[in-house]
Amino acid sequence: MIRPSALLLVISLVGTATSSALAQVLLSGEEIAMTLSHGPWPPAFEPDPSNRVSGLAAAIALGETLFFDPVLSRDRKMSCASCHDLEHGFAEPRARAIGNSLLDRNTPSVVNVRVHRWFGWAGDTDNLWAQSLTPILSSDEMGFDPADLKAALENSAISDRYVGVFGSISEQSADDVVVNISKALAAYQETLITGPTSFDRFRDALEAGDLASASQYPLSAQRGLQLFLGRGNCAFCHSGPAFTNGEFHDAGVPYFVTETRVDTGRYGGLQALSTSPFTLAGTFSDDPLKRGAWAIRQVRPQHSDFGTFRVPSLRGAANTAPYMHNGSLADLQAVVQHYNTIDLERLHADGEAILAPLGLSERESSDLIQFLNSLGDDPR
Ligand code: HEC
Ligand code: HEC
Repeated sequence: MIRPSALLLVISLVGTATSSALAQVLLSGEEIAMTLSHGPWPPAFEPDPSNRVSGLAAAIALGETLFFDPVLSRDRKMSCASCHDLEHGFAEPRARAIGNSLLDRNTPSVVNVRVHRWFGWAGDTDNLWAQSLTPILSSDEMGFDPADLKAALENSAISDRYVGVFGSISEQSADDVVVNISKALAAYQETLITGPTSFDRFRDALEAGDLASASQYPLSAQRGLQLFLGRGNCAFCHSGPAFTNGEFHDAGVPYFVTETRVDTGRYGGLQALSTSPFTLAGTFSDDPLKRGAWAIRQVRPQHSDFGTFRVPSLRGAANTAPYMHNGSLADLQAVVQHYNTIDLERLHADGEAILAPLGLSERESSDLIQFLNSLGDDPR
């Protein structure tokens, strides 16, 4: 929460402090107000109304076991964690994921995933349990059909724990079993939230008017933050506490998968949503009010959705190279270089006039990277 009184206090303090060598807060009052909008963090937990086991301890524990258990893949060789690797921030270091074949996209981290409104790079799903179900049923990934998964679960070591949370397996339809498994997986993933970083310490100190603490935040990160908010226009899309506006944009990343095949991005995502039985509007949602369902009843694929992708959260991004929907940029340096030299000819979607080559100097680029790193560190 932004407390207006605290905000005013900070601004007046900075007004007198900028010339002093002691309090090294470089930000203007306007920049401070913008900075406050990127918090507080972490967000308070709110159960997902479409998932009746959201926040339930037994379901979270079952979901954790399932996430790391190859029982969810037909050939018992793959678990969620094969791609969403704990050692790599629940993402993986290869550019594009490998399931039963090479997939088109990079594995995003599932840390902080619950802040999203649409899931996957193209927003193919509108809730976390449906997104967790996709890889189980996809022939490119874990390759189960619901009836076989139900049989495999009944014969597995975790069947008792499943029954403890969801009741008798044999009395449930195969689709219900898959959805229940996915709801346990979602309940677990909802708990994967990062703690405050050195950026958050800085932000919270500004909010509290504590300039002495705020000035602990390195000057280079502060200069990088100023670029992020100002000349770079990054916060236009990477906004709010999670550093994403949750929308779909064209950031100038080529969307050809091969010379003849494109990744249609949000266009395909909207097509997937319109045919999925697993949306917030469908019968598998546990929310009697069907909150959020209006959105998928209204959206239709438009030409301008072609080749747009969801704006990623930048929290923890420093720990999950490589970057972009196809993993084509190896590190943060390459990302900053991309925005520095962005090819305007390549921007095909409407309304992306917001991006222009930044032409940052070497020092400015390294300041911006320093800031991005401060969204993924642990200041304890
Ligand atoms: C073969 C590698 C692979 C496996 C196995 C896999 N994933 Fe993924 N995961 C991906 C890729 C690639 C994406 C991006 C998909 C897209 O955008 O279409 C993704 C996306 C996601 C997302 C969306 C994240 C976001 O930011 O919106 C979630 C949640 C997720 N996976 C959970 C799971 C769960 C749960 C399992 C196990 C049941 C699983 N994944 C198994 C590769 C994998
Ligand atoms: C027009 C909206 C927009 C603006 C402005 C923008 N971004 Fe992005 N950003 C995106 C989108 C969309 C993606 C994903 C693109 C893709 O995968 O094709 C992205 C991806 C990224 C990633 C990769 C994250 C990951 O997990 O793969 C980083 C880092 C990033 N942007 C930083 C920045 C910085 C720094 C700036 C300012 C110089 C900036 N962005 C400006 C929309 C934007």
